[in-house]
Amino acid sequence: MNQKIKKYTAIAEHLDSLIENDDDKYSIDKIGKMAIISWVLKHHFPHFIFAGFYIVSRPKTLTLGPYQGDMVPCSVIPFGKGVCGISAEKRKSLIVDNVKGFPEYIACDENTASEIVVPVFEGEKVTAVLDIDSGIIADFNSIDENKLRRILLKHF
Ligand code: SME
Repeated sequence: MNQKIKKYTAIAEHLDSLIENDDDKYSIDKIGKMAIISWVLKHHFPHFIFAGFYIVSRPKTLTLGPYQGDMVPCSVIPFGKGVCGISAEKRKSLIVDNVKGFPEYIACDENTASEIVVPVFEGEKVTAVLDIDSGIIADFNSIDENKLRRILLKHF
C-alpha cells in the first residue's frame, strides 16, 4: 500500500482512539478536537511545519485556532485573502505546490514550500479551515485532500 495511505490509516485509527463519541455527554468540544487533530497530524508527519485550524469566529473572518507548528503564525485572515481565506470563501480545498508561485499566499514561515487547506463544514456552513504547511515542494495531492476531508467530516 502507498506509504501516505498507510499513514492516514494510522492517523484515522489514532484519532478514533483519542476522540470520544459525539453522543457521549462528556465528549470533548470542537476546540479540543482541533487540538488533537493538529497534534496527531504533526506526530505522524513530523516534517510538517504547521498543522492547525483557523476558525470562522466573526463573519467572513478566520482567526487562529489550535495548531502545532514551528512558528507563531498570523492570527487573523479575512475571507478571500491567503490560501486559507480563499479556501474558506470558495468553500473548497486548495493545494498549492509551490507557495512562491502563488501571489495570494500569506507567509508565516520562510521554510514553507507547499500548503494544503481543507474547509471544515458543519451542515452547509464553513466553520473553520484545516491548514497544513510543508517544507517540501508539491508535498500534497488528492490523497491528502481526500483523507483530510474524511477526517473532518467524521469529527465535526
Ligand atoms: N499561508 C497561509 C497563512 C497561514 S500560515 O501558513 C500558518 C495562507 O496563505 O492563508
